[in-house]
Amino acid sequence: MVLSAGDKTNVKGIFAKIGGSAEEYGAEALERMFTTYPQTKTYFPHFDLQRGSGQVKAHGKKVAAALVEAANHIDDIAGALSKLSDLHAQKLRVDPVNFKLLGQCFLVVVAIHQPALLTPEVHASLDKFLCAVGTVLTAKYR
Ligand code: HEM
Repeated sequence: MVLSAGDKTNVKGIFAKIGGSAEEYGAEALERMFTTYPQTKTYFPHFDLQRGSGQVKAHGKKVAAALVEAANHIDDIAGALSKLSDLHAQKLRVDPVNFKLLGQCFLVVVAIHQPALLTPEVHASLDKFLCAVGTVLTAKYR
């Protein structure tokens, strides 16, 4: 997934505007993913997945921090997420389809909270970025 210069600007811009709310968006995206695509819950048998769960909130923060890190290193997402890529591909072995599901949920959350920011162009750039993150996190399967 090749991000154009315009995509990179759009992605950096939207994360700058979201700011500290990214943490809540991360948790909300996870909540939506677990509700809308219950099969994704199978990777989290050790979590309390009920609405408002502290574990989901804490995990949402971590996911959001990884996305912010990737946005901050948008020219080297693979390098920025290298350890996470090892974890997801080699240890967790999350089926790659699930990354698209979480990405869609994150987009929906941004659309709900920031409707004015999510122009069609920004939507397209953020979608590309989330796909690129998913590609990196599933790149090391063997
Ligand atoms: C763990 C990020 C997608 C399943 C993690 C961690 C981060 C992260 C930062 C914590 C790593 C650590 O504690 O060192 C992301 C990002 C994703 C993504 C940025 C895509 C945008 C997914 C998907 C699934 C998944 C789609 C499965 C449906 C897990 C599991 C853990 C984990 C099971 C371990 C949780 C634990 O036991 O604490 N992920 N993840 N991830 N991720 Fe992901």
